[in-house]
Amino acid sequence: MAEERLQKILARAGIASRRNAEALISAGRVSVDGRKVTELGAKADPRASRIEVDGRRLVAEPLVYVVLHKPRAVVSTLSDPEGRRTVADLVRDVPARVAPVGRLDYHTSGALLMTNDGEFASRIAHPRLGAPKVYVAKVKGEVKDADLERWTESITIEGRATRPAEVTRLRYEGDKTWLEITLREGRNRQVRRLGERSGFPVMRLARLSHAGISSEGLRPGEWRYLTSDELTDLKQAFGVPHRVRAAPAPPIAKGRPQLRQRAVKGAGAKPGRAPQGVRSTHPAPVGRPGRGAQGARSTHPAPVGRPGRAAQGARSTHPAPVGRPGRAPQATRAGRPPPVARSARSGQKQQPPAGEARGRSSAKARARTNRR
Ligand code: URA
Repeated sequence: MAEERLQKILARAGIASRRNAEALISAGRVSVDGRKVTELGAKADPRASRIEVDGRRLVAEPLVYVVLHKPRAVVSTLSDPEGRRTVADLVRDVPARVAPVGRLDYHTSGALLMTNDGEFASRIAHPRLGAPKVYVAKVKGEVKDADLERWTESITIEGRATRPAEVTRLRYEGDKTWLEITLREGRNRQVRRLGERSGFPVMRLARLSHAGISSEGLRPGEWRYLTSDELTDLKQAFGVPHRVRAAPAPPIAKGRPQLRQRAVKGAGAKPGRAPQGVRSTHPAPVGRPGRGAQGARSTHPAPVGRPGRAAQGARSTHPAPVGRPGRAPQATRAGRPPPVARSARSGQKQQPPAGEARGRSSAKARARTNRR
Protein backbone atom coordinates (compact mmCIF):
# COMPACT_ATOMS: atom_id res chain seq x y z
CA MET A 1 0.00 0.00 0.00
CA ALA A 2 1.24 3.47 -0.77
CA GLU A 3 2.14 5.98 1.86
CA GLU A 4 -0.63 8.21 3.06
CA ARG A 5 -0.90 11.14 5.39
CA LEU A 6 -1.01 10.04 8.96
CA GLN A 7 -4.17 11.95 9.78
CA LYS A 8 -5.93 10.18 6.93
CA ILE A 9 -4.82 6.80 8.20
CA LEU A 10 -5.94 7.61 11.73
CA ALA A 11 -9.28 8.90 10.53
CA ARG A 12 -9.94 5.86 8.39
CA ALA A 13 -9.16 3.58 11.31
CA GLY A 14 -11.85 5.37 13.30
CA ILE A 15 -9.44 6.94 15.75
CA ALA A 16 -10.63 10.48 15.26
CA SER A 17 -11.79 12.87 12.60
CA ARG A 18 -9.03 14.18 10.38
CA ARG A 19 -8.92 17.46 12.24
CA ASN A 20 -8.76 15.74 15.58
CA ALA A 21 -6.19 13.33 14.24
CA GLU A 22 -4.05 16.33 13.36
CA ALA A 23 -4.37 17.51 16.94
CA LEU A 24 -3.25 14.09 18.14
CA ILE A 25 -0.22 14.28 15.89
CA SER A 26 0.64 17.81 16.98
CA ALA A 27 0.30 16.77 20.60
CA GLY A 28 3.00 14.14 20.05
CA ARG A 29 0.72 11.22 20.74
CA VAL A 30 1.37 9.44 17.48
CA SER A 31 4.46 7.46 16.59
CA VAL A 32 5.55 5.67 13.45
CA ASP A 33 7.93 2.76 13.80
CA GLY A 34 8.80 3.85 17.31
CA ARG A 35 9.52 7.49 16.43
CA LYS A 36 7.23 10.22 17.60
CA VAL A 37 5.80 12.21 14.70
CA THR A 38 4.53 15.75 15.23
CA GLU A 39 4.73 17.03 11.71
CA LEU A 40 1.34 17.30 10.04
CA GLY A 41 2.54 16.44 6.55
CA ALA A 42 4.07 13.15 7.68
CA LYS A 43 3.16 10.06 5.75
CA ALA A 44 3.29 6.37 6.49
CA ASP A 45 2.41 3.08 4.90
CA PRO A 46 -0.31 1.62 7.10
CA ARG A 47 0.58 -1.91 6.04
CA ALA A 48 4.29 -1.68 6.52
CA SER A 49 4.69 0.77 9.39
CA ARG A 50 3.92 0.36 13.02
CA ILE A 51 1.65 3.25 13.84
CA GLU A 52 0.83 3.87 17.47
CA VAL A 53 -1.43 6.28 19.28
CA ASP A 54 -0.56 6.65 22.92
CA GLY A 55 1.51 3.51 22.59
CA ARG A 56 -1.35 1.42 21.23
CA ARG A 57 -0.82 -0.11 17.89
CA LEU A 58 -3.16 0.81 15.14
CA VAL A 59 -4.18 -1.76 12.63
CA ALA A 60 -5.41 -0.05 9.54
CA GLU A 61 -7.69 -2.80 8.38
CA PRO A 62 -9.26 -5.72 10.11
CA LEU A 63 -6.92 -8.62 10.51
CA VAL A 64 -8.19 -11.62 8.66
CA TYR A 65 -7.01 -15.21 8.92
CA VAL A 66 -8.27 -17.85 6.57
CA VAL A 67 -7.35 -21.29 5.39
CA LEU A 68 -7.81 -22.03 1.72
CA HIS A 69 -8.03 -25.45 0.21
CA LYS A 70 -5.65 -24.75 -2.61
CA PRO A 71 -6.48 -26.82 -5.63
CA ARG A 72 -3.86 -28.28 -7.91
CA ALA A 73 -2.89 -26.19 -10.93
CA VAL A 74 -3.05 -22.91 -9.04
CA VAL A 75 -0.02 -20.81 -8.12
CA SER A 76 0.27 -19.81 -4.49
CA THR A 77 1.28 -16.25 -5.25
CA LEU A 78 -0.93 -13.20 -5.62
CA SER A 79 -0.04 -12.65 -9.24
CA ASP A 80 1.58 -14.70 -11.94
CA PRO A 81 3.61 -13.37 -14.85
CA GLU A 82 2.52 -16.40 -16.87
CA GLY A 83 -1.13 -15.58 -16.32
CA ARG A 84 -1.94 -18.79 -14.48
CA ARG A 85 -4.69 -18.96 -11.92
CA THR A 86 -3.52 -17.72 -8.53
CA VAL A 87 -4.72 -18.13 -4.97
CA ALA A 88 -5.70 -14.46 -5.07
CA ASP A 89 -8.39 -15.44 -7.57
CA LEU A 90 -9.83 -17.81 -4.99
CA VAL A 91 -9.99 -15.40 -2.07
CA ARG A 92 -11.43 -12.40 -3.86
CA ASP A 93 -14.35 -12.24 -1.50
CA VAL A 94 -12.21 -12.26 1.64
CA PRO A 95 -12.72 -8.72 2.92
CA ALA A 96 -9.00 -7.91 3.07
CA ARG A 97 -5.95 -8.39 0.96
CA VAL A 98 -4.66 -11.62 2.42
CA ALA A 99 -1.37 -13.20 1.37
CA PRO A 100 -0.27 -16.81 1.66
CA VAL A 101 1.81 -17.95 4.61
CA GLY A 102 4.53 -19.77 2.68
CA ARG A 103 3.95 -21.60 -0.55
CA LEU A 104 2.64 -24.75 -2.08
CA ASP A 105 3.81 -25.95 -5.46
CA TYR A 106 1.62 -25.42 -8.47
CA HIS A 107 0.69 -29.10 -8.46
CA THR A 108 0.28 -29.47 -4.70
CA SER A 109 -3.17 -29.11 -3.18
CA GLY A 110 -4.33 -28.60 0.38
CA ALA A 111 -4.21 -26.31 3.37
CA LEU A 112 -2.83 -22.85 2.70
CA LEU A 113 -3.05 -20.27 5.46
CA MET A 114 -3.64 -16.73 4.27
CA THR A 115 -3.69 -13.53 6.26
CA ASN A 116 -3.07 -9.80 6.10
CA ASP A 117 -1.29 -9.98 9.46
CA GLY A 118 2.35 -9.88 8.44
CA GLU A 119 3.61 -10.44 11.94
CA PHE A 120 1.47 -13.53 12.37
CA ALA A 121 2.60 -14.87 8.99
CA SER A 122 6.25 -14.41 9.77
CA ARG A 123 5.91 -16.16 13.14
CA ILE A 124 4.13 -19.14 11.63
CA ALA A 125 6.66 -19.36 8.81
CA HIS A 126 9.67 -18.80 11.05
CA PRO A 127 12.04 -21.73 10.54
CA ARG A 128 13.15 -21.74 14.17
CA LEU A 129 9.60 -22.16 15.40
CA GLY A 130 9.10 -25.17 13.13
CA ALA A 131 5.35 -25.13 12.55
CA PRO A 132 4.44 -28.63 11.36
CA LYS A 133 3.25 -29.13 7.81
CA VAL A 134 1.62 -32.45 7.29
CA TYR A 135 1.42 -33.89 3.78
CA VAL A 136 0.14 -37.00 2.17
CA ALA A 137 2.13 -38.11 -0.83
CA LYS A 138 1.21 -40.78 -3.31
CA VAL A 139 4.49 -42.11 -4.59
CA LYS A 140 5.47 -44.48 -7.32
CA GLY A 141 6.71 -47.83 -6.07
CA GLU A 142 6.29 -49.92 -2.99
CA VAL A 143 7.99 -48.24 -0.07
CA LYS A 144 9.13 -50.99 2.28
CA ASP A 145 10.16 -50.54 5.89
CA ALA A 146 13.81 -50.39 4.91
CA ASP A 147 13.04 -47.65 2.37
CA LEU A 148 11.26 -45.45 4.86
CA GLU A 149 14.57 -44.50 6.47
CA ARG A 150 15.64 -42.78 3.29
CA TRP A 151 12.70 -40.46 3.50
CA THR A 152 13.84 -39.24 6.89
CA GLU A 153 17.37 -38.39 5.80
CA SER A 154 18.50 -34.84 5.45
CA ILE A 155 19.02 -33.60 1.89
CA THR A 156 20.65 -30.45 0.63
CA ILE A 157 18.49 -27.81 -0.99
CA GLU A 158 20.11 -24.67 -2.30
CA GLY A 159 23.26 -25.40 -0.35
CA ARG A 160 21.58 -25.99 3.00
CA ALA A 161 20.78 -29.25 4.71
CA THR A 162 17.14 -29.92 5.49
CA ARG A 163 15.82 -31.01 8.82
CA PRO A 164 14.83 -34.65 8.76
CA ALA A 165 11.19 -35.29 7.94
CA GLU A 166 8.90 -37.53 9.95
CA VAL A 167 7.44 -40.20 7.69
CA THR A 168 4.77 -42.84 8.16
CA ARG A 169 3.56 -45.29 5.58
CA LEU A 170 -0.20 -45.20 5.31
CA ARG A 171 -0.72 -48.01 2.82
CA TYR A 172 0.23 -49.40 -0.54
CA GLU A 173 -1.75 -50.54 -3.48
CA GLY A 174 -0.14 -52.11 -6.50
CA ASP A 175 3.05 -50.22 -7.12
CA LYS A 176 1.93 -47.06 -5.36
CA THR A 177 2.44 -46.10 -1.74
CA TRP A 178 0.79 -43.39 0.35
CA LEU A 179 3.01 -41.71 2.89
CA GLU A 180 2.31 -39.15 5.53
CA ILE A 181 5.19 -36.72 5.79
CA THR A 182 5.65 -34.01 8.38
CA LEU A 183 8.04 -31.18 7.68
CA ARG A 184 8.98 -28.37 10.01
CA GLU A 185 10.43 -26.00 7.50
CA GLY A 186 9.41 -24.60 4.16
CA ARG A 187 12.08 -25.58 1.67
CA ASN A 188 11.51 -25.50 -2.04
CA ARG A 189 9.92 -28.72 -3.36
CA GLN A 190 11.20 -30.59 -0.34
CA VAL A 191 8.85 -33.57 -0.49
CA ARG A 192 9.21 -33.98 -4.22
CA ARG A 193 12.98 -33.81 -3.91
CA LEU A 194 12.91 -36.36 -1.10
CA GLY A 195 10.92 -38.62 -3.41
CA GLU A 196 13.41 -38.20 -6.23
CA ARG A 197 16.31 -38.79 -3.88
CA SER A 198 14.86 -41.95 -2.36
CA GLY A 199 13.80 -43.41 -5.70
CA PHE A 200 10.05 -43.04 -5.18
CA PRO A 201 8.88 -40.13 -7.29
CA VAL A 202 5.93 -38.22 -5.93
CA MET A 203 2.85 -38.61 -8.10
CA ARG A 204 0.43 -36.56 -6.01
CA LEU A 205 0.96 -34.31 -3.04
CA ALA A 206 -1.58 -32.75 -0.71
CA ARG A 207 -1.04 -30.78 2.47
CA LEU A 208 -3.37 -31.86 5.21
CA SER A 209 -2.55 -29.13 7.66
CA HIS A 210 -0.23 -26.28 8.45
CA ALA A 211 0.50 -25.45 12.08
CA GLY A 212 -2.38 -27.73 12.99
CA ILE A 213 -4.87 -25.90 10.77
CA SER A 214 -6.56 -28.25 8.42
CA SER A 215 -8.53 -27.60 5.27
CA GLU A 216 -10.56 -30.70 5.83
CA GLY A 217 -14.18 -30.18 4.94
CA LEU A 218 -13.35 -27.58 2.32
CA ARG A 219 -13.61 -28.41 -1.32
CA PRO A 220 -10.76 -27.37 -3.57
CA GLY A 221 -10.99 -23.64 -4.01
CA GLU A 222 -12.99 -23.02 -0.82
CA TRP A 223 -11.74 -21.11 2.16
CA ARG A 224 -12.90 -20.56 5.71
CA TYR A 225 -11.98 -18.25 8.55
CA LEU A 226 -9.91 -19.69 11.34
CA THR A 227 -11.98 -20.25 14.43
CA SER A 228 -11.33 -18.10 17.46
CA ASP A 229 -9.92 -21.14 19.27
CA GLU A 230 -7.56 -21.92 16.42
CA LEU A 231 -6.38 -18.35 16.32
CA THR A 232 -5.88 -18.07 20.05
CA ASP A 233 -3.92 -21.31 20.13
CA LEU A 234 -1.75 -20.30 17.22
CA LYS A 235 -1.03 -16.88 18.60
CA GLN A 236 -0.04 -18.40 21.91
CA ALA A 237 2.02 -21.17 20.41
CA PHE A 238 3.88 -18.87 18.05
CA GLY A 239 4.15 -15.86 20.29
CA VAL A 240 2.21 -13.46 18.12
CA PRO A 241 1.90 -10.20 20.01
CA HIS A 242 -1.56 -9.02 20.87
CA ARG A 243 -2.65 -6.26 18.60
CA VAL A 244 -5.27 -3.68 18.90
CA ARG A 245 -7.39 -2.54 16.06
CA ALA A 246 -8.36 1.06 16.14
CA ALA A 247 -8.30 1.47 19.86
CA PRO A 248 -11.17 3.61 21.07
CA ALA A 249 -10.68 7.01 19.72
CA PRO A 250 -8.99 9.35 22.09
CA PRO A 251 -11.07 12.37 21.13
CA ILE A 252 -9.87 15.86 21.16
CA ALA A 253 -11.65 18.49 23.12
CA LYS A 254 -10.77 22.08 22.48
CA GLY A 255 -7.54 21.18 20.90
CA ARG A 256 -6.43 19.15 23.84
CA PRO A 257 -6.57 15.42 23.48
CA GLN A 258 -8.59 13.63 26.09
CA LEU A 259 -9.75 10.14 26.53
CA ARG A 260 -13.29 9.29 25.85
CA GLN A 261 -14.04 6.29 27.90
CA ARG A 262 -13.06 7.39 31.31
CA ALA A 263 -11.41 10.24 33.03
CA VAL A 264 -7.73 9.61 32.89
CA LYS A 265 -5.24 11.74 34.60
CA GLY A 266 -2.56 13.00 32.33
CA ALA A 267 -2.61 13.48 28.65
CA GLY A 268 -2.70 9.97 27.28
CA ALA A 269 -4.40 6.64 27.53
CA LYS A 270 -2.41 3.92 29.15
CA PRO A 271 -0.67 1.78 26.67
CA GLY A 272 -0.46 -1.90 27.26
CA ARG A 273 -3.71 -3.39 28.34
CA ALA A 274 -6.23 -3.45 25.60
CA PRO A 275 -8.84 -0.89 26.32
CA GLN A 276 -12.40 -1.91 26.77
CA GLY A 277 -14.37 -2.08 23.65
CA VAL A 278 -11.35 -2.56 21.49
CA ARG A 279 -12.74 -3.70 18.27
CA SER A 280 -12.34 -7.18 17.16
CA THR A 281 -9.61 -7.99 14.74
CA HIS A 282 -12.24 -9.67 12.65
CA PRO A 283 -14.12 -8.18 9.83
CA ALA A 284 -17.79 -8.08 9.40
CA PRO A 285 -19.39 -11.30 8.32
CA VAL A 286 -19.11 -12.10 4.73
CA GLY A 287 -22.18 -14.28 4.62
CA ARG A 288 -21.52 -15.50 1.18
CA PRO A 289 -21.68 -19.19 0.83
CA GLY A 290 -21.40 -18.91 -2.90
CA ARG A 291 -22.04 -21.63 -5.36
CA GLY A 292 -21.37 -25.11 -4.27
CA ALA A 293 -18.59 -26.83 -6.01
CA GLN A 294 -20.76 -29.40 -7.56
CA GLY A 295 -19.34 -32.77 -7.95
CA ALA A 296 -16.01 -31.63 -6.65
CA ARG A 297 -14.43 -34.05 -4.31
CA SER A 298 -11.99 -33.36 -1.63
CA THR A 299 -8.41 -33.73 -2.63
CA HIS A 300 -7.61 -34.81 0.87
CA PRO A 301 -6.33 -38.25 1.22
CA ALA A 302 -7.48 -40.70 3.82
CA PRO A 303 -7.62 -39.51 7.37
CA VAL A 304 -4.52 -39.82 9.37
CA GLY A 305 -3.81 -38.67 12.87
CA ARG A 306 -4.15 -34.99 12.35
CA PRO A 307 -2.40 -32.54 14.51
CA GLY A 308 -4.40 -29.82 16.04
CA ARG A 309 -8.11 -29.55 16.35
CA ALA A 310 -10.44 -29.97 13.53
CA ALA A 311 -12.41 -26.87 12.90
CA GLN A 312 -15.76 -28.50 12.69
CA GLY A 313 -18.02 -27.70 15.50
CA ALA A 314 -15.59 -25.15 16.78
CA ARG A 315 -16.69 -21.58 16.88
CA SER A 316 -15.71 -19.65 13.88
CA THR A 317 -14.20 -16.25 14.29
CA HIS A 318 -16.95 -15.20 11.95
CA PRO A 319 -20.62 -15.64 11.76
CA ALA A 320 -20.42 -16.31 8.07
CA PRO A 321 -20.77 -19.80 6.78
CA VAL A 322 -17.69 -21.56 5.61
CA GLY A 323 -16.08 -19.69 2.76
CA ARG A 324 -17.25 -19.69 -0.69
CA PRO A 325 -15.78 -21.38 -3.58
CA GLY A 326 -15.38 -20.05 -6.96
CA ARG A 327 -16.12 -22.83 -9.25
CA ALA A 328 -14.28 -25.76 -7.91
CA PRO A 329 -11.85 -27.36 -10.21
CA GLN A 330 -12.31 -30.83 -11.50
CA ALA A 331 -12.14 -33.49 -8.91
CA THR A 332 -8.69 -34.86 -8.50
CA ARG A 333 -9.55 -38.44 -8.05
CA ALA A 334 -6.49 -40.33 -8.98
CA GLY A 335 -4.26 -39.07 -6.27
CA ARG A 336 -6.16 -40.24 -3.29
CA PRO A 337 -6.94 -43.02 -1.07
CA PRO A 338 -10.63 -43.02 -0.13
CA PRO A 339 -11.76 -39.51 0.63
CA VAL A 340 -12.30 -38.30 4.11
CA ALA A 341 -15.84 -38.05 5.30
CA ARG A 342 -16.46 -34.36 5.14
CA SER A 343 -18.13 -32.38 7.77
CA ALA A 344 -21.55 -31.09 7.03
CA ARG A 345 -20.91 -27.46 6.54
CA SER A 346 -24.14 -26.26 5.22
CA GLY A 347 -26.48 -24.91 7.80
CA GLN A 348 -23.72 -24.83 10.33
CA LYS A 349 -24.48 -21.87 12.46
CA GLN A 350 -21.44 -19.98 13.46
CA GLN A 351 -21.57 -17.46 16.18
CA PRO A 352 -19.32 -14.50 16.48
CA PRO A 353 -16.95 -15.05 19.32
CA ALA A 354 -18.25 -13.87 22.62
CA GLY A 355 -15.55 -11.25 22.89
CA GLU A 356 -16.50 -9.80 19.57
CA ALA A 357 -20.15 -9.59 20.40
CA ARG A 358 -19.35 -8.12 23.76
CA GLY A 359 -16.93 -5.69 22.20
CA ARG A 360 -19.55 -4.45 19.85
CA SER A 361 -22.27 -4.02 22.40
CA SER A 362 -20.01 -2.38 24.91
CA ALA A 363 -18.72 -0.08 22.20
CA LYS A 364 -22.31 0.87 21.46
CA ALA A 365 -23.02 1.43 25.12
CA ARG A 366 -19.99 3.62 25.39
CA ALA A 367 -20.96 5.56 22.34
CA ARG A 368 -24.35 6.17 23.92
CA THR A 369 -22.74 7.30 27.15
CA ASN A 370 -20.49 9.60 25.25
CA ARG A 371 -23.30 11.21 23.43
CA ARG A 372 -25.07 11.99 26.65
N1 URA B 1 7.09 -30.10 -0.71
C1 URA B 1 6.94 -30.12 -2.05
O1 URA B 1 7.67 -30.80 -2.76
N2 URA B 1 5.96 -29.35 -2.57
C2 URA B 1 5.13 -28.60 -1.84
O2 URA B 1 4.25 -27.93 -2.39
C3 URA B 1 5.30 -28.59 -0.45
C4 URA B 1 6.30 -29.35 0.09
